[in-house]
Amino acid sequence: MTQIKNIGLFTSGGDAPGMNAAIRAVVRTALFHDVEITGIRRGYEGMISGDLFPMDRRSVSNIMQRGGTILKSARSGQFRRPEGREAAYEQLKKFNVDALIAIGGDGTFRGAKAFGDEFDMPIIGLPGTIDNDLTGTDFTIGYDTAINTVINAVDKIRDTAESHDRLFIVEVMGKDSGMIALRTGIASGAEGIIIPEGRIGVDKLFDRLENGRKNKTSRIVIVAEGEGEEGGAFDIGSQVKEKFPHLDTRVSILGHIQRGGKPTCMDRVLACRVGVAAVEALLAGYKGDMAGLVNNEIVFTPFEHAIKRNSDIDPNMLRIVEMLSL
Ligand code: F6P
Repeated sequence: MTQIKNIGLFTSGGDAPGMNAAIRAVVRTALFHDVEITGIRRGYEGMISGDLFPMDRRSVSNIMQRGGTILKSARSGQFRRPEGREAAYEQLKKFNVDALIAIGGDGTFRGAKAFGDEFDMPIIGLPGTIDNDLTGTDFTIGYDTAINTVINAVDKIRDTAESHDRLFIVEVMGKDSGMIALRTGIASGAEGIIIPEGRIGVDKLFDRLENGRKNKTSRIVIVAEGEGEEGGAFDIGSQVKEKFPHLDTRVSILGHIQRGGKPTCMDRVLACRVGVAAVEALLAGYKGDMAGLVNNEIVFTPFEHAIKRNSDIDPNMLRIVEMLSL
């Protein structure tokens, strides 16, 4: 086994609160073990263009509490092509990088898997996405902060909904995953959720509105974004308005507010734990795995399994929404 001397570190895909805490953990753990660390800006894009620089302990001072990522992030089209990956490998060699740590979500790990298969470059991933849609970790870095941002926003929407006796359709992020919608639906006391998993769609909502309690003053329905067959929140809003014209219905899209802000304590600690584990795993000879936390234990999952979205939504969680929103 060749000894690793210089780890390249990057963040890629949608940014997530807690990425900076993960960067700090990786940098300081590498330096602790006398391994050099090279920052790569803008993910795979910066790798291809050679935007690499040495990092030291001070370069990660005072970043733990900041949202976003000091390494910046991008979604790279070039890296999907073999020529892009070849160019990236050349740059890494030029900067003497002999291993990588990638912080990101499924797109990041798809790229890492392809790269690791083609080149002699051990890579370990850290789950950094607000979506919580990876297999091999109970929670992803950024998810806890994002769901807290959502419930703070929905609590405010509830105030105005209650004052005006309105129904609000609130769209939250999550690509084609309902993880953000499900948990925030429960925590904000939503009257309904619409998520891609388990066919929890508009029919259920219509049934609720037709046959449910009539004396409700405000109603909140949380909808997961996505290209699902239900359409987006505006489309669902139009359907509700048409079928239930007596309800005063509004639509609110929370959008990128969910991606920013100070990471919660949970996200910071998760980032520190998997950050340390990732460096030590690389040094122990691991490659091609994501470091996650399952049942409070560090677990390594091959990239190809990690990106297989865990679409099993806990039926008990759905039951909770059903019962408590009556
Ligand atoms: O993957 C994180 C995420 O915020 C998704 O929830 C969302 O679908 C997507 O990124 C939005 O991406 P962008 O900021 O590139 O539009």
